[in-house]
Amino acid sequence: MRFKDKVVLVLGGNSGMGLASAQAFAAEGATVHLTGRNQQTIDEAVASIPGSTGYSADIADPAATEEVVRQVEQADDRIDVLYINAGVGGFAPLEAITEDDWDFVHSINLRGCVFALQKAVRIMGEGGAVVVTGSIGAHGPLEGNGTYAAAKAGLSMAMKVFAKELLPRKIRLNMVSPGPIDTPLLHRNPGMGPEEVEKLKEMMIANIPMHRMGTSEEVAKAVLFLAGEDASFISGVDLLVDGGLIELG
Ligand SMILES: NC(=O)c1ccc[n+]([C@@H]2O[C@H](COP(=O)([O-])OP(=O)(O)OC[C@H]3O[C@@H](n4cnc5c(N)ncnc54)[C@H](OP(=O)(O)O)[C@@H]3O)[C@@H](O)[C@H]2O)c1
Repeated sequence: MRFKDKVVLVLGGNSGMGLASAQAFAAEGATVHLTGRNQQTIDEAVASIPGSTGYSADIADPAATEEVVRQVEQADDRIDVLYINAGVGGFAPLEAITEDDWDFVHSINLRGCVFALQKAVRIMGEGGAVVVTGSIGAHGPLEGNGTYAAAKAGLSMAMKVFAKELLPRKIRLNMVSPGPIDTPLLHRNPGMGPEEVEKLKEMMIANIPMHRMGTSEEVAKAVLFLAGEDASFISGVDLLVDGGLIELG
């Protein structure tokens, strides 16, 4: 029960690794608030997590995040743990990147996450912890990944700066950077049918030193470690959860 009496806000908590983390936080005693855009999966997530509250809020809209934070404050006074996990994929080689696609991915994966931190940290106090989902995309070049990788690399450095800025307030901030994890994200790539997704998975598995994809639960374990007291002397790290892909691949 590492998170007994803690108030946890998971931005992007209705699917994949965000949902697994929200469930794990609750299983260890936390009061969980979670966001997403899809009302049906928000409702399902809340139904699976006793005592939780769900909000439909697009992280690309800082005012929407601000309103969520206001409601969390009204309900529970504060946030002890903030997990900024919302993100979208976006594969396209240089010649096919459109300005709209670039802006869409960056409005969520970079701009939205930064302003979410700004809004939420207002109600965080001493001993608070922030975890942010990055990606191995920020650690190595992969053809077709320019838009997404640029957003996550920008996020990684921005968060390092903010980790430093939050030190005087005794708030720790760390990132997890997952490698290929089997989540609904893979199936959301526009223009990719089930067969292409399977091929993509096989290609990824062939390159992973552990010869398998990771699970949302494995990422959640890293998130809870960084968010909890066991990581009390850790801030500013970007923890790879990637089956050895970046360091051993
Ligand atoms: N799966 C991987 O292999 C992998 C690898 C490296 C990094 N990541 C990163 O891991 C994070 C979680 O992804 P996942 O794999 O668990 O995928 P997922 O199942 O698609 O989950 C993405 C989450 O982000 C939320 N989200 C997306 N856009 C949002 C927006 N504009 N506003 C609010 N919430 C939004 C989604 O909610 P809705 O469904 O309601 O939109 C969902 O809860 C992302 O940041 C992703 O970039 C994933």
